[in-house]
Amino acid sequence: MGSKLAILGGEPAVTVSTREKWRRPIEEEKKLIWELLEKGKISGSGEGLPLEFEEEFKEFVGCEYCLTVDHGSTALASAYYAVGVGPGDEVITPAAGYIGSYAGALHMGARPVFCEIDPKTLLMDPEDVERRITHRTRVINPIHMSGKVCDMDALMDIGRRYGIAIVEDAAHAAGCEWGGKKIGNIGDITCFSLQGVNPTGKPVAGGEGGVVCTNNREFYERMLAYCHLHRAGVTDELRSPAYRGLDAEVLGLKYRAHPIALAIALVSLKTLPYRTEKAIENREKLFRGLRDIPGVEPVHSYPKAKWHGLYGGWQVIYHPEELGGLSPEKFKAALRAEGVPIRGHGWASGHLGEHLRTIFTRGFDLWGHGRGPLDTRHGFMGLPPFKPYKKGDFPITEDLAKRVITIPPYIEPEEGLIEQFIEAFRKVAENYKELL
Ligand SMILES: Cc1ncc(COP(=O)(O)O)c(C=O)c1O
Repeated sequence: MGSKLAILGGEPAVTVSTREKWRRPIEEEKKLIWELLEKGKISGSGEGLPLEFEEEFKEFVGCEYCLTVDHGSTALASAYYAVGVGPGDEVITPAAGYIGSYAGALHMGARPVFCEIDPKTLLMDPEDVERRITHRTRVINPIHMSGKVCDMDALMDIGRRYGIAIVEDAAHAAGCEWGGKKIGNIGDITCFSLQGVNPTGKPVAGGEGGVVCTNNREFYERMLAYCHLHRAGVTDELRSPAYRGLDAEVLGLKYRAHPIALAIALVSLKTLPYRTEKAIENREKLFRGLRDIPGVEPVHSYPKAKWHGLYGGWQVIYHPEELGGLSPEKFKAALRAEGVPIRGHGWASGHLGEHLRTIFTRGFDLWGHGRGPLDTRHGFMGLPPFKPYKKGDFPITEDLAKRVITIPPYIEPEEGLIEQFIEAFRKVAENYKELL
């Protein structure tokens, strides 16, 4: 490799294949699916393979209760119901987030209140969360983006001091840990997504699906009652006086997972420890190599966090001031030309932040007739009329959205690939003047 930048006609730094080599054990998936088909067990929950998945997931996480649902976003909706979110409440969620994270609360009549991220970890900033608490705040919603784990000690402390529930969005974070404990075992309720297939899908993936974990019996029973119509044994499980005596149709919603999706997810769960360890090993190698290169700062993680980035990848923060003001666009284009398959920031695609979605910049009449938490003309259930967000409201998030670079995660990269990625960053950083 010469030193001439590939974007200027030189040889690219990356010459080996950038394909992930690891393949999921598809024969095991086929076997489980075939058994379900032969037995005709392709519907239902609370028994058979769906129950087996919940038992395995529960054991893996180490929590007391676990339920599967049809999506990560419905996992979150059922969690919001469980902790008592209702019309006029507020839910604090990061602007560097995702609509599926808070949509369940919005549809229950709650208003999402955005907060900033910590510029080093790119995760919900606990100090900013605390500033945004009002008497209407019902939930704090940490999102473990890319499996990077939020500061759970600080957030749990805030939650306990103010009596606010912590509903974690761990859509990307199955297998990640905080202080040696698996995610799913810390906040009041933790929600996972099973969307996609490995290696590109969620860490535990089965096409579509979701999981909730909790150690709180009351929350567990509320989630059961909310959306587990006709689950085997549901009426026996509802022991609290408030829900005992409900019939098997409970509250009428059926958001259960498809058994075929859970068969795929069960196989995925078994390979997660291997994928986690390999992803961490490769990320550490990459980050070690990038650490002394000017212009790039590998994302930080809290000392108690163990994270893989299996979904959402590995972030580095670009500092244009260290490379003569070279724009992030030019820096990224030069890296891509060198053969590094980078993407931008890991939060909502196409936006600098969630607050800049149209429903938040214009407001939205959610239920018609000027009703709902985003109506700009009328107050709603004690909430003042919605004040639309605008560009500039979240300067940290918006600035980082332009400067964060995501490198895809690898479980089994081609021999030498990580080293070539490091070389590509070094080459662009050393020759930046040619791009000014
Ligand atoms: C951060 C985050 N939260 C929630 C979800 C929702 O999960 P699902 O797509 O399974 O509904 C996703 C899905 O991509 C996500 O990335």
